[in-house]
Amino acid sequence: MLTELTPLFKKPPLYTKTEIPFWDDEHISLQMLNAHLNPNYDGASRKLEFIEKSVDWISKILPSEHYPSVLDIGCGPGLYTERYAKKGYRVVGVDFSHRSINYAQMSAKRKGLPIDYFYQDYLNLSLDKKFDFATMIYCDFGALSTNDRKQLLKIISLDWEHETELKESLKVYFQEQKTVHEAAKKESAKKHFEFRQREADTKEMVTTKKRPNGVPLSEDELKEEKERLAFYKATARDYLLRYKQHEKEEKQFSEYLKLL
Ligand SMILES: C[S@@+](CC[C@H](N)C(=O)[O-])C[C@H]1O[C@@H](n2cnc3c(N)ncnc32)[C@H](O)[C@@H]1O
Repeated sequence: MLTELTPLFKKPPLYTKTEIPFWDDEHISLQMLNAHLNPNYDGASRKLEFIEKSVDWISKILPSEHYPSVLDIGCGPGLYTERYAKKGYRVVGVDFSHRSINYAQMSAKRKGLPIDYFYQDYLNLSLDKKFDFATMIYCDFGALSTNDRKQLLKIISLDWEHETELKESLKVYFQEQKTVHEAAKKESAKKHFEFRQREADTKEMVTTKKRPNGVPLSEDELKEEKERLAFYKATARDYLLRYKQHEKEEKQFSEYLKLL
């Protein structure tokens, strides 16, 4: 027993690949598929709401009228490919899980979506086609070794014919978002101070049990003012949180703009 266990504790050299066909394993692929298809869980794919937003964003940056064909690398059961097809793209998906590819093919057929799926290792991709752009979603690129990343990029061989156009539309989008968050940040700050002022005025009434004109508050009125105070306090806090979130987003889009 000990002789069988001991080798398992030996640390493998860095970037050693598993011998196990991880994505095609009977048990793992079933659990993965369940996780992909759960709209409220982001263990294998992002949550459905995020996927919808991502596809909307992609189709805004790379509209299908100008970039009609897309390759989705590691497409899983087709959560993105189907949405691309509905947005008018010609779509090809590749994945190394039989279970996911089979599911994706059946789902596309059921929905009448003309998507081509291939069971292939994207590190040895052989497709006799050219695409306007490719997506690889959910951190898979980051999980590859340096050599595998280089290999994948060589295979994909980016078509820089669209570089200037793409950068221009990204610039417009990032600038738009920066402006939106800047305006929302200012509005949140205004509202925050407005509610802080209301909170202070109401607190004064609750503490003195009098209106600003000196008229005493009845029991019922005092109770009402206390409730109002709690509401103003919570609303002021909420606007402060919104302010911080918009500030963060504004900074993020400024950083993105610097990258272009
Ligand atoms: C984390 S999942 C993401 C799936 C999909 N992009 C999504 O976000 O819904 C990673 C996917 O990449 C596939 N995959 C992993 N290695 C692959 C390889 N070498 N070739 C093709 N597909 C691969 C897996 O089968 C799995 O479906």
